[in-house]
Amino acid sequence: MAAARSETSKTILNYVIDTSVLPRELDCKRDLRLVTDKHERFFMQSSPDEARLLQMLIKLTGARRTLEVIAVDVSREYYDIGRPFIERASVAGKVDFCEGPALEHLDALLADEGNHGAFDFAFVDGNKPNYMRYHEQLLRLVRVSGVIVYDDKLWVGMVALPPDAPLSDFDRRTSAVMRDLNTMLVADERVDVCQLTIADGVTICRRLV
Ligand SMILES: C[S@@+](CC[C@H](N)C(=O)[O-])C[C@H]1O[C@@H](n2cnc3c(N)ncnc32)[C@H](O)[C@@H]1O
Repeated sequence: MAAARSETSKTILNYVIDTSVLPRELDCKRDLRLVTDKHERFFMQSSPDEARLLQMLIKLTGARRTLEVIAVDVSREYYDIGRPFIERASVAGKVDFCEGPALEHLDALLADEGNHGAFDFAFVDGNKPNYMRYHEQLLRLVRVSGVIVYDDKLWVGMVALPPDAPLSDFDRRTSAVMRDLNTMLVADERVDVCQLTIADGVTICRRLV
């Protein structure tokens, strides 16, 4: 999700995106981004620099089997926006869209022991209150040394605000969820954790055991 930033950090971010990200963005990826920018919920789109980070992580880890907890999505409408671009990129055969709640889909995968430790990489950018439960499920589905990435971990910087900061109920609840998750992940000895301030806060976890 796009994060609110100071003018200075926006200038730096724009510089990075203009000089390092957009020149190498594939045409179909750019066109999908531009179509999504016009959608009423455009703010849900991962930023171009975050997309580049995910692409790099997948290549660095040599990931073949991945889970994207929006390729599992309750909204087929959102997937249908992306599908023509997935087809243009000739990767439709690699994307297995599953419509429905992610918790149920991950449970269904877990019901088959063949899926335990069978995935190399997972990206989580679904509904925030379920992140902790996704974490428990993904730790069984992603292999040892595999990677789990969580998005929106800084919730537009609200995780760092004082308890009396004036926030909407939704932002207060979500930033509390993210704060709890940040604390839990750092204490979780099953994973190695690297917290980045890119985009809206990306946490990279590597499964240790
Ligand atoms: C922030 S958006 C993901 C945006 C995506 N990373 C991108 O760059 O386009 C969150 C998505 O999670 C989906 N979602 C919400 N609740 C869900 C649930 N319980 N299970 C699966 N998907 C869910 C929403 O429909 C939405 O498409």
